[in-house]
Amino acid sequence: MSEPLSARIEPSQRQWLQAQIEREGYWFHRIELAPDLITPGWSDPLTQKLPFFGLPERMDGMRVLDVGCAEGFFSFEAERRGAREVIAIDSFPDSVRRFNICRAALDSRATAFLTNVYDLSLRAFGTFDLIMFFGVLYHLRNPILALEKLFSICCGRLLLQTHGFEDPAIGDQSMARFYPFGIESGPPEKRSWDPTVFWVANGACIRDMLAHVGFTDIEQIPGPAGHVFRARVPTPSAGTPPDQTKAPWN
Ligand SMILES: C[S@@+](CC[C@H](N)C(=O)[O-])C[C@H]1O[C@@H](n2cnc3c(N)ncnc32)[C@H](O)[C@@H]1O
Repeated sequence: MSEPLSARIEPSQRQWLQAQIEREGYWFHRIELAPDLITPGWSDPLTQKLPFFGLPERMDGMRVLDVGCAEGFFSFEAERRGAREVIAIDSFPDSVRRFNICRAALDSRATAFLTNVYDLSLRAFGTFDLIMFFGVLYHLRNPILALEKLFSICCGRLLLQTHGFEDPAIGDQSMARFYPFGIESGPPEKRSWDPTVFWVANGACIRDMLAHVGFTDIEQIPGPAGHVFRARVPTPSAGTPPDQTKAPWN
């Protein structure tokens, strides 16, 4: 495994970073920005997620997309594992601002864009060897539309994690629960109402949605961190950036 991106920093830089961190009213991810300087998020992806989400040990040469990046833990991890290019998107402006604080601290080349998953396109973003789609599916009103968008720009593998449920009475039939007004969420000691959770599916439903949009070799990765799936496109190729000669911004 590569070295951590966080390196030793000068006291003045540490002070500046500390001020940036404190200025933010909310952090989701805990990310080590420098020795003993960790963003105060309530989700610790290093211990609670990373061991269970199926990331390849090495990502050398890959073009990677991190969808719903929050402060960017998985983007920085992909870079640390050798990814050639890491693009991150999030639909919430504050996420991108906090991502950029971490990016500066880690001297990372990963780039975050304020973009909704529904707005991903081949023309603007190119294609990706690996798409990380963690903790977003249940936030979407239109999960199949989002999966179609991801399929259209994936030329390799998709890793997906989401909240799910299993009910022995339903077994292997596809089933999803719709929450029109959200669910309770957050850390155990500070529960709050999250109105942005809409669909919670069982494993069979997630598998069937992935197959429906065209993914193949769909595997569920067992573990304690929600429903995690690995899938791939039928004919893999190498990820490529958007073609600048075709004016992808227009
Ligand atoms: C629960 S967090 C997951 C963060 C990170 N992927 C992880 O697994 O630790 C969900 C993130 O997805 C973002 N998000 C929600 N809906 C989105 C959408 N339609 N398009 C892009 N990002 C979205 C949220 O702003 C938030 O940062």
